[in-house]
Amino acid sequence: MTTEIPASADAADAAGRAARIHEAVRRRYAEAARTAAGGADAACGCGCAEEAVAVFGRSHYADGEAAAPAGALRASLGCANPNALVDLAAGEVVLDLGSGGGIDVFLAARRVGPAGKVYGLDMTDEMLALARRNQAEAAVTNAEFLRGTMEDVPLPAGSVDVVMSNCVINLSPDKDRVLREAFRVLRPGGRFAVADVVTLRPIPAALARQIELWSACLGGALSVDHYRAKLAAAGFTGIEVEVLHSYGLAEAGADADRLLAELGIDAAEVEGVFASAFVRATRPGSETADGAPAQVGASEPAPSAPAPPSRG
Ligand SMILES: C[S@@+](CC[C@H](N)C(=O)[O-])C[C@H]1O[C@@H](n2cnc3c(N)ncnc32)[C@H](O)[C@@H]1O
Repeated sequence: MTTEIPASADAADAAGRAARIHEAVRRRYAEAARTAAGGADAACGCGCAEEAVAVFGRSHYADGEAAAPAGALRASLGCANPNALVDLAAGEVVLDLGSGGGIDVFLAARRVGPAGKVYGLDMTDEMLALARRNQAEAAVTNAEFLRGTMEDVPLPAGSVDVVMSNCVINLSPDKDRVLREAFRVLRPGGRFAVADVVTLRPIPAALARQIELWSACLGGALSVDHYRAKLAAAGFTGIEVEVLHSYGLAEAGADADRLLAELGIDAAEVEGVFASAFVRATRPGSETADGAPAQVGASEPAPSAPAPPSRG
């Protein structure tokens, strides 16, 4: 039996809808963390490990990252490796939104070295406990895991050089707010380097309303155009969305036959509709000669404000 996310007609509805999505997402990733903590691959997170092995999880960390902590690899639920899309320099500060078991935090921590720092932010207590256990086992000293949501990041403005994330922003019920928060915490000139699921054509509305698909990283995915528009509206420039690999419901580990039959949707409608993508952007501006952030907007055109896309 499918469970629908209620539509939001006003602010109170929208808050209720957001709370309901957060709770469904939190429950799913708490379960994934418990499975990984027990020594198995993290079962169902974005997709389900065995069915979606080519799309989500540890397959993105094949050779180069063999030295990553084993517990973090087991818990890996991402859709690409965001460390592959950004150059990190020694001493930089990085924030990973929705850090899960910590795989990308640990890889970035190695790259920024002892003079740098990597924050992992997650709202699920079980994931934070798993990440901290993995951190202790791997003796990583330049990383810190923070409890909180990516809609309300517990870090000061202009405090990080790079915001990265792996297959998490699609899970947010309020992506505009997430992107505004990413912009706020970045220093002028800071980089946004994210792997995420996007849609290549509209997905049937009845499917997008299924809460199990939302928490599986599919139902809340933005189209490429909506992603670009939301980043621009948050103030970012240099926006690039690079599609890596497209797939349908079944390859993404969803119970495709059951869902499509229950909703009366033809399988052809969702063939190849989802894709993993790298999303890059920059917070405009640069540091002044004395190291203080330059005023954003002083030498940059005001961010354009395209018509707001319709979905979260
Ligand atoms: C698909 S998993 C990805 C984990 C990790 N990035 C990886 O690649 O393995 C999503 C993670 O994001 C966290 N998460 C989901 N929504 C969040 C939100 N709004 N704020 C903070 N964390 C969130 C979940 O608790 C979960 O750990």
